[in-house]
Amino acid sequence: MAPKVAIVIYSMYGHIAKMAEAVKKGVEETGGSATIYQIPETLPQEVLAKMYAPAKPDYPIMDATTLATFDAFIMGIPTRYGNFPWAVEGTLPALFLSFSFLPLFAFWDTTGGLWGSGALAGKYAGAFVSTAGPGGGQEVTIQNAISTLTHHGVCFVPFGYSAAFPQLSNLSEVHGGSPWGAGTYAATDGSRQPSALELEIATLQGKQFYGVISKVNF
Ligand SMILES: Cc1cc2nc3c(=O)[nH]c(=O)nc-3n(C[C@H](O)[C@H](O)[C@H](O)COP(=O)(O)O)c2cc1C
Repeated sequence: MAPKVAIVIYSMYGHIAKMAEAVKKGVEETGGSATIYQIPETLPQEVLAKMYAPAKPDYPIMDATTLATFDAFIMGIPTRYGNFPWAVEGTLPALFLSFSFLPLFAFWDTTGGLWGSGALAGKYAGAFVSTAGPGGGQEVTIQNAISTLTHHGVCFVPFGYSAAFPQLSNLSEVHGGSPWGAGTYAATDGSRQPSALELEIATLQGKQFYGVISKVNF
């Protein structure tokens, strides 16, 4: 049976959403299908307005029970301090804001039951990222995500270089992405959009990910 794949994202300014569409395209071009889900927002509207966050993309909401119905998932993570956005306490003094990305409501905090029952164990996951710029934590964000996956017994599928060597090693232009996963640079004000090369790398990750998991007997 074909593996059931979810692309699970959080996207405040749309960069990760665009990358997710490119990853999905790659899965589909390899004969698979994938559904894009988004993590529920935990920030109050007042905070989102002060952060100039546009309306959310129109994707279904992922919850822990639904996640457990998939064989594999690819996480789209906009970096927060080199980590998941949904498990970090933070302040934005430049905006005179002090708030928490409340762990109580954080998505992974809702998966304790799945952890206890081993419901995600043996599933497969990859990740792609968005950071403000180079050095902002593309690789370490995915490395940190692996800790969560490991506790759940989820097998991490590295992107590697084999599917995108010329693209990842292209030094003729600034671009995100690494063997840990595709990536884009959003700029500190979110003004930069995923480049054609970054979207191509994301599509190649979708292809590579599906190529790996389609060999697994789920
Ligand atoms: C609280 C906060 C922390 C952030 N931390 C980082 C960081 O550690 N490194 C970085 O390069 N960008 C950082 N950023 C920028 C985000 O990664 C960027 O806004 C995001 O990748 C854009 O993706 P999106 O449009 O899908 O939300 C941070 C942004 C916010 C609001």
